[in-house]
Amino acid sequence: MIRIAIDGPSGAGKSTVAKAVAERLGIDYIDTGAMYRALGYKMKLKKVEPVEDDRLAELLNSTEIDFSEGNIFLDGEIVNDRIRTPEISMAASACSALASVRKKLVEIQQGMAGRKSVVMDGRDIGTVVLPDAELKYFITASPEERASRRYRELIAKGQDVSYDRILSETCERDHNDSTREVTPLRRADDAVLLDTTDMTAEEVINRICTDACKMI
Ligand code: DC
Repeated sequence: MIRIAIDGPSGAGKSTVAKAVAERLGIDYIDTGAMYRALGYKMKLKKVEPVEDDRLAELLNSTEIDFSEGNIFLDGEIVNDRIRTPEISMAASACSALASVRKKLVEIQQGMAGRKSVVMDGRDIGTVVLPDAELKYFITASPEERASRRYRELIAKGQDVSYDRILSETCERDHNDSTREVTPLRRADDAVLLDTTDMTAEEVINRICTDACKMI
């Protein structure tokens, strides 16, 4: 069994790398950011404010999030594309600062990892969700490089977005994610730091797969 934890700020390329590593090793990939996005999306839809109150508790109790064949299901419905907009990025960041939200999602994530091999990416995988993971990485890149990667990704999907807006939102989310009171984004002491500003995705994937193969 091998559990690979990949953490880092938005747009560092975590999901591209994590997905490819999982595919090469033939193990499951769990995108925990997509889970915060799905919840942020549902809160927006139901007009539930990102504050700890009864409406939030009720929403958490009546929410199911699952992955199957590369799709994310929110209450049984596929929401892959609906959760990938700048608006939902901000909603996810806001809801991820709430203790009750993190408690609920961490429980689901630990249940999903169970006792099997997985690659999981997020912000607190090496520190909270899978503190005993066999391999831990903290992947980062400059804010400008991360914003331009996100910009190219959204433009390729046909979304009408501006680079400047994405850069300022990247910086705002970095600030929110690393200064929130509950589990702020930080590198686990035993995580390998990979600055990917001048690395291709392929180089990062090869590095992790090489490390993993030494352990299998
Ligand atoms: O990785 P992403 O951009 O899809 O994540 C969306 C938001 O969810 C981001 O603002 C940080 C938050 N998040 C988190 O707090 N903990 C995680 N394990 C994953 C994501």
